[in-house]
Amino acid sequence: MARILVINGPNLNLLGNREPEQYGYRSLEEIMGDLVRFAGACGHELTHVQSNGEGELVDIVQGAATSAVDYIIINPAAYTHTSVALRDALIAVGIPFVEVHLSSVQAREDFRHRSYFADIAMGVISGFQGESYMLALQAIVNRIEPPAG
Ligand code: DQA
Repeated sequence: MARILVINGPNLNLLGNREPEQYGYRSLEEIMGDLVRFAGACGHELTHVQSNGEGELVDIVQGAATSAVDYIIINPAAYTHTSVALRDALIAVGIPFVEVHLSSVQAREDFRHRSYFADIAMGVISGFQGESYMLALQAIVNRIEPPAG
């Protein structure tokens, strides 16, 4: 059994209403509910948290180390493109993580092409709206227990 923590950054609490052409029509609760169920069916424990504050996100990452989290899925949202503090926190705790984006960040404005996380992540999944999170979770589940064959 692995402990997986999903961390969502600023404005992702508005999913469903916020620029649905970019981010889809599903709410964060709906997307996270599917993840909790899928992780549970695979024998893992998944919890999720959302914050609009950079400092609070740093505290959440630091707290993940003390609560023995094995893997992190993180959508740093706008902090993807700005936050050295959040990058440093992930390096400090050393918990493997997948960076997730709902929209296809490389197909958007230039400032979204820069990520402070991509080079230290297990991998990056971007552009599949809510499904991006499920693809990240599937990658972690496969890492824990590689499919036979
Ligand atoms: C986002 C992409 C970011 O550029 C943006 O600031 C977000 C959401 C995404 O999931 O597509 O808030 O991380």
